Formats: sequence, C-alpha cells, structure tokens
Amino acid sequence: MRKKTWVLCSVIVLSIIFLFVTAYSQDNIKYVQDPAFTKRMRPAAVFNHDEHNENASIDDCSTCHHFYKDKVKVENETSEDMKCSECHKIDKDPVPLINKYHLRCKGCHEQEKAGPLMCSECHVK
Ligand code: HEC
Ligand code: HEC
Ligand code: HEC
Ligand code: HEC
Repeated sequence: MRKKTWVLCSVIVLSIIFLFVTAYSQDNIKYVQDPAFTKRMRPAAVFNHDEHNENASIDDCSTCHHFYKDKVKVENETSEDMKCSECHKIDKDPVPLINKYHLRCKGCHEQEKAGPLMCSECHVK
C-alpha cells in the first residue's frame, strides 16, 4: 500500500514537471501573434518556426532576430529573447510595425520567389 502511494506521488510530480516544461518551452512556435497589436484586423500569421527555417535553409538567426545598438546593426549579435515590438514600438499607429513584419516576411518570399505572398496564405482563419 505504501509503495503504491509512493509510485502514485512520483507519477503526479513527474506529470506536473512535464506539463510545466512543455508549457514554458515555446521554442517551436506555430504562428506569430504580436501582442502589441491590441485591435487585430487579421488572424495570427502562420509560422512554423523551426520547420520554416529548416525548409527555407535559414541558418543565421539574425536574419530575423537582428540586434541594433545606437541605430547601428551589431553583427554576430541576436535578439531572439526580445519581441520585435520591443524595439519597433507602436506609437498610436500600428502601420510601421506591420510594415516591418511584411518587409521581413514577404520581402524574402518575393526575393526568393518562394513562400506565400497573399494575405490569406499567412493570415489563415
Ligand atoms: C524567418 C525569421 C526567423 C528566423 C530566421 C528565426 N526566427 Fe526566431 N522568431 C521569429 C519570429 C517572428 C518570432 C516571434 C517574435 C515575437 O514573438 O515577437 C520568433 C520567436 C523566437 C523565440 C521566442 C519563442 C517564444 O517562445 O516566444 C526564440 C527563442 C527564437 N525565435 C529563436 C530563434 C533562433 C535560435 C533562431 C536561429 C536558429 C531563430 N529564432 C531564427 C522569426 C525568426
Ligand atoms: C534590439 C531592437 C530590435 C529588435 C528586437 C528588432 N529590430 Fe528590427 N530594427 C531595429 C532598428 C534600430 C532598425 C533600423 C531602424 C528602422 O528601420 O526602424 C531595424 C530595422 C528593421 C527593418 C528594416 C531594415 C531591414 O533589416 O530590412 C525590418 C524589416 C525589421 N527591423 C524587422 C524586424 C522584425 C520582424 C523583428 C522581430 C523578428 C525585429 N525587427 C526585431 C531594431 C530591432
Ligand atoms: C530569408 C528568407 C525568408 C524569410 C525572412 C521568411 N521566409 Fe517564409 N519562406 C521562405 C522560403 C524560401 C519558403 C519556401 C520554403 C519551401 O520551399 O518549402 C517560405 C515559406 C513560408 C511559408 C509556407 C509554409 C512553410 O513553413 O514552409 C509560410 C507560412 C511562411 N514562409 C511565412 C513566413 C513568415 C510569417 C515570415 C516572417 C516572420 C517569413 N516567412 C520569413 C523564406 C523566408
Ligand atoms: C508572409 C506572410 C504574410 C503575408 C503574405 C501577409 N502578412 Fe500581414 N502579417 C504577417 C506577420 C508575421 C504579422 C505580424 C504578426 C501578427 O499577426 O501579429 C502581420 C501583421 C499584420 C497586421 C497587423 C495585425 C492585425 O491583425 O491587425 C495586419 C493588419 C496585416 N498583417 C494585414 C495583412 C494584409 C492586408 C495582407 C495582404 C495584403 C497581409 N497582411 C499579408 C505576415 C503576413
């Protein structure tokens, strides 16, 4: 009886740890939904982070997570621990931040002639 209780307790503890770890490791995000857009006009943009970067053969994290200091881009420095909107702040008008995202995402798709360009291909309902 004692042994059974002990086993049960360990199972519960392990499940809690597992849930905690999976809930907080969001490294493989499936879509981008920047909380800076408080009044959304479109559904979140689909973006299967790891799979996308593997398929598109993007090895350099700073292609998207670039880092700037005093308005100068710092080479070999990345900013994946920051939201885009931490630097590209929305000051009443959301358009500049929207343009930054579109320039980065659609810009490359146009250049590479691969990847979606239509609104509904990224902002999937
Ligand atoms: C094609 C663009 C792109 C590339 C390349 C890229 N990322 Fe990201 N990544 C994003 C976007 C967009 C987000 C979401 C940003 C946000 O939440 O503001 C993100 C989010 C993240 C996050 C945070 C996930 C979370 O839980 O919110 C981490 C960590 C991360 N990326 C790491 C990396 C690393 C490491 C690399 C290089 C191996 C990399 N990224 C390459 C676009 C990219
Ligand atoms: C550490 C601050 C910082 C972070 C984080 C950041 N940026 Fe930037 N970004 C800048 C600065 C500064 C510039 C240059 C001034 C400008 O164009 O606003 C810039 C320029 C840009 C440009 C235009 C020049 C270019 O490189 O093509 C795009 C597009 C862009 N950022 C998109 C993004 C996206 C998308 C993210 C999130 C994945 C992001 N930025 C995260 C600071 C940052
Ligand atoms: C440096 C180039 C580059 C950047 C930056 C980039 N993409 Fe892509 N993307 C590609 C390429 C290349 C493909 C086609 C990959 C293939 O052929 O499978 C693609 C494909 C996609 C697809 C189709 C499904 C998939 O995952 O392959 C989606 C959705 C997508 N991109 C969204 C985004 C979003 C959202 C961003 C900005 C956060 C972004 N992309 C930034 C190059 C890029
Ligand atoms: C390559 C993918 C891609 C395409 C194509 C694209 N977007 Fe986006 N869009 C994004 C990403 C990434 C963001 C920033 C993440 C988010 O949605 O919060 C964004 C943000 C937005 C936002 C701000 C958030 C909101 O819902 O209010 C609007 C508005 C928007 N896009 C409209 C459009 C329209 C209109 C088109 C077609 C003309 C379009 N997008 C095409 C990827 C894309």
